[in-house]
Amino acid sequence: ARRLIMDVDTGTDDAVALMFAALHPDLELLGVTTVNGNVSLAATTDNTLRVLDWIGCAGIPVHPGLTRPIVRTDFPSARHFDSGGKDDPHGTALDIPEPSSRAQAQGAVEYLIETLRGAAEPVTLVAVGPLSNIAAALALDPGLTGRVDEIVIMGGGHATANVTASAEFNIWADPEAAAMVLAAGFPKLTLVTLDATHRAVITRDACRALAGLGTPAGTAADRFIGRRIDAYSGGAGDGAAPVHDVVCTAYLVRPDVVRTSPLPVTVETAGAATVGRTVIDTRPGAPEPANAHVALDANAELLSGLLTDTFARTL
Ligand code: BDR
Ligand code: CA
Repeated sequence: ARRLIMDVDTGTDDAVALMFAALHPDLELLGVTTVNGNVSLAATTDNTLRVLDWIGCAGIPVHPGLTRPIVRTDFPSARHFDSGGKDDPHGTALDIPEPSSRAQAQGAVEYLIETLRGAAEPVTLVAVGPLSNIAAALALDPGLTGRVDEIVIMGGGHATANVTASAEFNIWADPEAAAMVLAAGFPKLTLVTLDATHRAVITRDACRALAGLGTPAGTAADRFIGRRIDAYSGGAGDGAAPVHDVVCTAYLVRPDVVRTSPLPVTVETAGAATVGRTVIDTRPGAPEPANAHVALDANAELLSGLLTDTFARTL
């Protein structure tokens, strides 16, 4: 099984990605690091513990990380949620029971460095929140890139944005961290953008199938994704919603769930209207070398099937 560490700011879609990584037989979730993002560090940590307890994975360690961006004292401006500034698709606490397990005493950055240093084989990193923890670990141990076989990041966009007209939330929340990670020289960096995740929307019908599984993961996925569909469609009728973060974990078991292209990606850190934008150079013969495998398209049907197959499992 592919061994991975997830860095999350658990919210509803991080929760679906965590359940996928913990339950899929081809993945071995070694540990989870939490970061300030959708909600505060305390809340993202509590939500992460709730999810792992709920599916019977309380043994997977959770290490809390940064409470704020690595350079700025806060986000560039007041945040709007990934439903395009309408209502909040996350809420502060996930609607599953409070956790019985506790976070580890060791912090996220120390855990990342120690685990990667001690790993017999390179480990995969899946980062689905602001990149503050990853950047801080790189600042302490630049050589950690050599002990990671691939970092998969949910972030950025080319023709699609959410938190502002120009940027995607994870990159925007800590633009300097994102710039550091993109420039760090990971052997393989895969960037799953909003352009991809918005093409892999999950429908109400799919939620009904998930609820029908009668498993903890299926029940929770229905609840979390249903809340996202409510936020995206203002509660009206059918609708569908992107579940951004789970595209990253699904990609690990079925790379064809997305279509990627090697492209140069930089992050705007100084712009007024554009801070946090991923500048993706799609021009033929772009002068800069590609530093990321960028997913701009995804397969909704394949993703949906992967969810029902994986969430049928119980531990
Ligand atoms: C990203 O921001 C958060 O709202 C989601 O959890 C996802 O990681 C999408 O822009
Ligand atoms: Ca997230």
